[in-house]
Amino acid sequence: MFGSKRLLTICSTVLLAAAVLTGCERKEAGAGAATGAAADSGTGPIKVGVAASLSGSEATWGRSTQVGAEMAAEEVNSHGGINGRKIELVVYDDKGQSQEMGLVVTRMIKSDKVVAILGEVASGLTMAGARIAQPEGIPMVSHAATNPDVTAIGDKIFRVCFTDDFQGFVTAKFASENLKAKKAAILYDQAQAYSVGLKDTFKDSFTKMGGTIASEQAYTGGDQDFSAQLNNIKSSGAEVLFIPGYYTEVGNIALQADRLGMKIPMLGGDGWDSPQLAKIAGKAIEGHYYANHVSPEAPDPALQKFVAAYKAREGQTPDAIGVLAYDAAHVLFAAMGKAKSLSGDDIAKELAATKDFPGASGMITLDEKRNATKPAVILQMKDGKPTYFATITPN
Ligand code: PHE
Repeated sequence: MFGSKRLLTICSTVLLAAAVLTGCERKEAGAGAATGAAADSGTGPIKVGVAASLSGSEATWGRSTQVGAEMAAEEVNSHGGINGRKIELVVYDDKGQSQEMGLVVTRMIKSDKVVAILGEVASGLTMAGARIAQPEGIPMVSHAATNPDVTAIGDKIFRVCFTDDFQGFVTAKFASENLKAKKAAILYDQAQAYSVGLKDTFKDSFTKMGGTIASEQAYTGGDQDFSAQLNNIKSSGAEVLFIPGYYTEVGNIALQADRLGMKIPMLGGDGWDSPQLAKIAGKAIEGHYYANHVSPEAPDPALQKFVAAYKAREGQTPDAIGVLAYDAAHVLFAAMGKAKSLSGDDIAKELAATKDFPGASGMITLDEKRNATKPAVILQMKDGKPTYFATITPN
């Protein structure tokens, strides 16, 4: 049964998160008592924070984030670390909640004295953390947050993935050109910055391409019943349903759409990317499409090397988040290695200069807005697995 399986997954990630937290607590003296981040001590391991949703409804992303970052840190450490010092990752569970994200970022900076932070996946959580890290002068590199506003928070906030200006265009182009849809319906999560933003950019691009929005419906993350919205969409005459949501809700929406006898193709963004999607939705998700950062099937040698190492370690193929976490960590560690000192200013200066960095997810160059420009792939769900369908390049 799905229910019991999911419970098991959550229990094991909670145990893991608990172990990580205990590990970190050991090294702390008076959490929250410190005022102002002290500079790195100059000796011993260099601490880098990782904010990950190790529990909650996006738990698969927390695990992939942690594993990707750890694999990069282990590689650098096995080659002598950074200027002779080892990297020590301080991993916290933000539980997929903004408030918790704020707490863990504060804790990393004030108590653990991290020199930089990796994370988060969700745009809303990344923004919550960035609003704390930026005024503290601590660089933050998100591997997967795509909302355009994330890096606009300040000059210490970076990302190694494309933004939703591009992802909205990519999904609209696919709906219009490949699915030949003239009328689209949208069902989005009004509580997630990512979902609201991607809904807007999709709508903008799709209407510019000559399409119309037949129905625009909203839900709130955690909702269980989508029948009112789906009935409205069903009678709207839409030829495609765009769902810019996260996998737990998308899985439930697909199940309910199937029960209502809906036959139109469903299309989403990177938020669908989790092995849980097919576990929740079963055959109801078969044949549907989503945009993503990478296809683990792509023949690129750097990607395949990482995929093989990840599989050997975790017993499963990485999702895009694992690949991006590995790349974000390597980009950060390379900048730390080049920086004049480990001050936030010096690390940020080197991060900003990132150019043609050969990542497992592709070449990474950060522009003046601290964003990367990369192609996107469209995946189709086949036999419960995301399968490569097409690549869409930035211009
Ligand atoms: N782009 C999503 C966000 O900004 C997060 C995400 C990235 C999810 C990649 C899955 C895969 O919230």
